[in-house]
Amino acid sequence: MTDLSQKQVFETLRWHGDRLEMIDQRILPSKFEYRAYASAAEVAEGIRTMVVRGAPAIGCAAAYGVALEALRLRDSSREEFAAGLEKGFEQLAGSRPTAVNLFWALNRIRRVWQEVRHVGLSAIAERLLAEAHEVLAEDIRINRAMGAHGAELLPDGARVLTHCNAGALATAGHGTALGVIRSAVEARKRISVIADETRPFLQGARLTAWEMVHEGIPVTLITDNMAGYMMARGEIDAVVVGTDRVAANGDVANKIGTYMVAVLAQRHNVPFYVACPLSTIDPAVPDGRSIPIEERSASEVTGFRDYQWAPKGVAVRNPAFDVTPAELVTALITERGVVHRPDRQKIAALLR
Ligand code: MRU
Repeated sequence: MTDLSQKQVFETLRWHGDRLEMIDQRILPSKFEYRAYASAAEVAEGIRTMVVRGAPAIGCAAAYGVALEALRLRDSSREEFAAGLEKGFEQLAGSRPTAVNLFWALNRIRRVWQEVRHVGLSAIAERLLAEAHEVLAEDIRINRAMGAHGAELLPDGARVLTHCNAGALATAGHGTALGVIRSAVEARKRISVIADETRPFLQGARLTAWEMVHEGIPVTLITDNMAGYMMARGEIDAVVVGTDRVAANGDVANKIGTYMVAVLAQRHNVPFYVACPLSTIDPAVPDGRSIPIEERSASEVTGFRDYQWAPKGVAVRNPAFDVTPAELVTALITERGVVHRPDRQKIAALLR
């Protein structure tokens, strides 16, 4: 176990020797441990079981998943190599459905594979690994650029509500929504964070709270059903969240409960910002109704870890994401700048 008692930067995913290592986010904050991955199937399982989560981090993991598979198969025949890689793509694509960064990263790695498919297998594997490294490094650069644009939107002294975890843990580093907050703090603004606990997987209580406490950024944890009370009392100045997929018309899919926060924000005249790398925009999806929404296991709702509080046999729904219509979004914060009141035309112009 790594000692994080001293403030230090952590790497959500890292290449170590010939393995991908990822922080096991299921056991944070009580334990800080890395797990090692050596194949696409293992990485797909790590994504499915949420060892790694958050749209950009999932994309990075998937890129490494394909590279690991190529390294594993580099001494086999060309046919076995191609078939194995295809299977790896399939396993990774089937791991979680909503975060479009997963498919974006797989498409990017596939394009590289197509380019180099006639060279030796070791050279292909090395090239895919180099691309995975680049996906990771680029993600941090993008988050820093988004942070710089978004920080300008937050006034000094702002009390900022965020939902789920869109921090360093959800990305290769810095974060999207928490990246905006970090950049504002770096710009010497006095920012405090209100973290929704984010039922049922508790990404806010476990991960956002941990990141902020670890970094010394003031954070107050609330349960999801307290946001309305806080806004009505004038205790929240802005909302900043991340996203798993933005449709061509600007509708935003994010962690379940985000829509509720957006409706409350509109009611109370609180700006609702979405930090969104361009890789999270899916122009192939016309609007929010077409975004695939993951349904997760009932056991996440009926209890937590080993403890079950609901009666056995009760019917449960567990959609992991909801969709906030574009009309409730004050602005999208991207690496190319801020898009106020996003709509189909503005998104198309942004992607051109
Ligand atoms: O189910 P999760 O934890 O993967 O959901 C994550 C979120 O909803 C984040 O807000 C989103 O991926 C943006 S992360 C920068």
